[in-house]
Amino acid sequence: MLIRQTVVFPICVLLFRVSFCSISDKSKHLGSRTPYRFIQNDNDAPIKYPGCNATRIWMFSRHGTRLPSEEEILLMKTTLYSLRDKIINQFNKGKGSLTADVISNFAAWETELDPMEEKTLAHEGQQEHMLLAERMQNRFPEIILKKYDNTSFEFRFTATERTQQSAKYFTLGLFDPKDAKNAWFPTAKTWDPVLRFYKVCKKYRKKVKNNETALREQTLYGGSKQMFAALKVMSDYLGFDDVLSLDEGMLIYQACGYETAWYKNKHSPWCDAFDTVVAEVLEYYDDLELYWIDGYGYEISYKPACVTIKDLFEHFSNKERPRASFLFSHSGAVLKIMAHLGLYKPQEPLTHLKKIEKRPWKASHIDSFATNLAFVLYQCQDEERVLTLHQERIIRLPPCKEDLCPMSVLTHAYHDSIHNCDFNKMCHNKKHK
Ligand SMILES: *[C@@H]1O[C@H](CO)[C@@H](O)[C@H](O)[C@H]1NC(C)=O
Ligand SMILES: *[C@@H]1O[C@H](CO)[C@@H](O)[C@H](O)[C@H]1NC(C)=O
Ligand SMILES: *[C@@H]1O[C@H](CO)[C@@H](O)[C@H](O)[C@H]1NC(C)=O
Repeated sequence: MLIRQTVVFPICVLLFRVSFCSISDKSKHLGSRTPYRFIQNDNDAPIKYPGCNATRIWMFSRHGTRLPSEEEILLMKTTLYSLRDKIINQFNKGKGSLTADVISNFAAWETELDPMEEKTLAHEGQQEHMLLAERMQNRFPEIILKKYDNTSFEFRFTATERTQQSAKYFTLGLFDPKDAKNAWFPTAKTWDPVLRFYKVCKKYRKKVKNNETALREQTLYGGSKQMFAALKVMSDYLGFDDVLSLDEGMLIYQACGYETAWYKNKHSPWCDAFDTVVAEVLEYYDDLELYWIDGYGYEISYKPACVTIKDLFEHFSNKERPRASFLFSHSGAVLKIMAHLGLYKPQEPLTHLKKIEKRPWKASHIDSFATNLAFVLYQCQDEERVLTLHQERIIRLPPCKEDLCPMSVLTHAYHDSIHNCDFNKMCHNKKHK
């Protein structure tokens, strides 16, 4: 199962044919700030199986590339400016290993971000969803029609600007602009267990999300010798006399990620502050959080994703529902859904003791901006089958022995998700809202 998964997703090998491996190696370690253009599948040929017709699709996506949080923007406008000045000063004193070119790139660096724009969808995020929509439509033209009709399409997003805009640009990729304007969207709800079960799961919030102990492995890794060595390499390289703090190191890494995602044709100087070996350490630090807070670390993180899985199976069985359903949500939801389904599970829990480079649970591959999971229902003679795609590539869910997985195999394997999903009970939610 695990072998199959790592074989299914040889991102670098697969992307060898496109641009991914020709860009700097560091770009492969941007974690959840990886832009979707590094991940996307440009082969959008129709996916057809003899004797079968595609009849329905259900797709769950993370919003596209966004701006940072308010806190991150404030740090970029303060700490990052000080670091920039310090880098230039040290260079002028003849310290460090940066070149004059990199220094002039730093000297020109500034940020115009406004804390008011926090977490809003970036221009790149608009493009990501528009182009993703076009490719999905090319693959499944018989279910993702070119003409909008609200009995054939359903779009849902969380109560946030970035998912609403992602949905909007997705429709602009599907339909002509006039049609897209008419697309009907239901009002987003703050209580929406299908799209964001974890936000409204009391037990998860108490036991995991707001529990510092749950982050133990990440905290320990943050204080590890390996992390200190990485920060020291970075500091020496920048010509600093003291060693960067973990927060400063992570801020530089984040700035590199965001700016790489935002600007296709511009190189962020922050990416020149560290090498690939350091990038892998900073990447792992973030992955530890995504494993323990959003992934396999605790059952209560991913068990409530049954609500979403139930929606998927209902979509397939209820032929009254529009045949194409597109949901727009967040990294926290997609990761937990993948853990619920048994995807990308490492052989052993991720810990501070051992960074495994070839781990399947790696945000740079599985949690880029606009990350998406699509399920396509096929009618094959008298049997229904389901095709699963992650990042537009066919994958097999753990219980499946073939790409077109019989519906009976899935309903058996995920029986409890479909039939025993008492959300409020498992979440210790007192009241139904
Ligand atoms: C179609 O749009 C109308 C609003 O114009 C809405 O009330 C209705 O629920 C929509 N139908 C579906 C199937 O989404
Ligand atoms: C926090 O997490 C630890 C480790 O899993 C657990 O033992 C503890 O009970 C949790 N605290 C709360 C308030 O749930
Ligand atoms: C697929 O669709 C075609 C054309 O509508 C139809 O003739 C055929 O019977 C369908 N096949 C299956 C397996 O449903």
